[in-house]
Amino acid sequence: MLQRDEDAMLEAARQARENAWAPYSGFRVGAAVLGASGRIYPGCNVENASYPVTTCAERNAIGAAISAGERRIVAVMVCADHKDPVTPCGMCRQAIAEFGPDVRVVCVGRGDDRVEYSVSELLPFAFGADKLEGRA
Ligand code: THU
Repeated sequence: MLQRDEDAMLEAARQARENAWAPYSGFRVGAAVLGASGRIYPGCNVENASYPVTTCAERNAIGAAISAGERRIVAVMVCADHKDPVTPCGMCRQAIAEFGPDVRVVCVGRGDDRVEYSVSELLPFAFGADKLEGRA
């Protein structure tokens, strides 16, 4: 990934984190998706009084990218209001894996430390569309 794209994703994710709707947990998360077009799409967590209805920042950013017409996702940045980088939850790992095992996932906290993985490192043996084909 280009440094320029990574910097722009961080900026977008930090900005989205400011818009988090997190009145229950107080845990604000921003995300940014880099699409194959080079465009960047932000998302934040949106909580709900019916707690399980909550959607994570990563899935909201993916929704924005796909809704805008992106068909391929290159990278997802997640930026949590935490002293350390936070990796995506299991549901978000599955959501990211939909777009292939090589999607890059970059995680940051409030500081400058970054950790980066491929989604297949975060979710090995993911369930995928291949399993839906030729069902026995
Ligand atoms: N959350 C995210 O948005 N992304 C993550 O990677 C971890 C968790 C949100 C969901 C919920 O609103 C809050 O953080 C606490 O779980």
